[in-house]
Amino acid sequence: MAWNADEEVDDMQEGLGDTDSTYGGSLIGCDTDTLASYITDYRYENGRRYHSYRDGEYWGPNDEHSNGLQDLAHHMYLMTLEGKLHLAPLDNPHNILDLGTGTGIWAIEMADAYPSAHVIGTDLSPIQPLFVPPNCAFEIEAFNLDWTYSKNHFDFIHIRELFGSVLDWDEFLPSAFDHAKPGGSVEVVEHSVQPVSDDSIVNEASFFTQWGRTVIEMGERFGKSFTIWEESRARLEKAGFIDVIEKRYKWPMNGWPSPEHRTHGDDGDKSWQRLREIGVWNQLRLYDGVEGFMLRLLTVAGGWSYESAQAFLARMREEIKDLKIHAYLNVTVVYGRKPGGKPKTSEGATLPATSSGFVDVGGGGSSIPVEYQGLD
Ligand SMILES: C[S@@+](CC[C@H](N)C(=O)[O-])C[C@H]1O[C@@H](n2cnc3c(N)ncnc32)[C@H](O)[C@@H]1O
Repeated sequence: MAWNADEEVDDMQEGLGDTDSTYGGSLIGCDTDTLASYITDYRYENGRRYHSYRDGEYWGPNDEHSNGLQDLAHHMYLMTLEGKLHLAPLDNPHNILDLGTGTGIWAIEMADAYPSAHVIGTDLSPIQPLFVPPNCAFEIEAFNLDWTYSKNHFDFIHIRELFGSVLDWDEFLPSAFDHAKPGGSVEVVEHSVQPVSDDSIVNEASFFTQWGRTVIEMGERFGKSFTIWEESRARLEKAGFIDVIEKRYKWPMNGWPSPEHRTHGDDGDKSWQRLREIGVWNQLRLYDGVEGFMLRLLTVAGGWSYESAQAFLARMREEIKDLKIHAYLNVTVVYGRKPGGKPKTSEGATLPATSSGFVDVGGGGSSIPVEYQGLD
C-alpha cells in the first residue's frame, strides 16, 4: 500500500475534530502510526523483500531468509572471536550504540552481558524482535544523515558489516568520534568480499577473483565501498582515535581446512578443526546468501538482467562447493579509543557456551547441524 501524505493529513484533521476519537486530540499516536506503517510498507524486487524507509539506500533484503543468515554470520563472528562479543576493553559501560544493528542479535546479547548498560540498536528496517532485555532498545535511524544523539555520550560504538552501506567513511567515523565519550571506544568488524589463498590456487583467472572484483565494482557504482575491512585502522586513526589495534582472521570459503591444508598467519592461531568449522558455516552462509548479497547490486547498480545475475550467482555457488580451492575471506576487527577518560583494562564480554549464539567447539566436537556436515 502506497503512503499518501494528503490522505494522512485529512485523516489526522478528521481525528482532531472528533473529541471522542482514539486520537484524543493528540497528534502523538497518529504520528507514531504513520511512521510505523510507512517503514513496514516494504519494497519487493525480484522476489525479495527490501526496506522501505529511505528506499534503495541499502543493498540487502530484510526478509526472513536474509535475517536468518545475518544471525548465522553473528554466530561465525562469535566463533572467530572465541565467544567474545567485542575485543575493545570496556569498563562498566553505560551507553552502547550498535549502528546498522540488523536483527539486533548483537545488541540483545550485549544488553544481557552488561545489564547496567543501555544498549541502542539502529537500522533502516524494523526487523528486530519485540521482546528484548529491558536495557535494550531499537530505533529507526539512518546513519548517513546527521546523528540525533548527544555528543560525548557513548562508552562504546559498534560497527559490524556496514560495508557497502556507508556513504563516506571520512564523515561516518568522525561522527562516531564526536558521539563517543572521552575514553570511549569504537570497534569496526568487517570482512573482505574478495576470496584469496595463501598459494596460487586463487589467481587472475579464477572465478573467485572475478567475483571479488565485481562486488567491489558494484559497490563503487552504488556509491558505497566494500573495502573498509583493510582501511578501518587508518581511517580510525585519521578520525582521531588512539591506541588503535587491528586483529586479522580468516574465514575459509568452505570446510577445506585439514591437517595438511590450513590457513597460515593471521588467523588467531586457530586449530584446523576450528577453521574447518568456520569454513563449513561460511559455505552455508554464502551458498544461501549470495542472491541476497548481490541481486540488487547487480541488477540495479550494475544494470544486469535478472537472468545474467542468476547465472553469475549459480557459478559462485558451484565454486563455493569446490573443496580443492583453498580460499578464504580476510576479516578484521579494529578498535580504538577517543582520547581522555580512564584507560580500560577489562576483556571483551564472552558468551557462556550455553548461550543461543555460541557453541565452543575447540578442537573436538562439532556445532555443524548434522544435515550440513556432508555439504561439499
Ligand atoms: C550486513 S547488515 C549487518 C547487521 C549487523 N550489524 C550485524 O553485523 O549483524 C547491514 C545492516 O545495516 C543496515 N543499514 C544499511 N544502511 C543503513 C543506513 N543508512 N542507516 C541505518 N542502517 C543501515 C541494514 O538495514 C542492515 O540491517
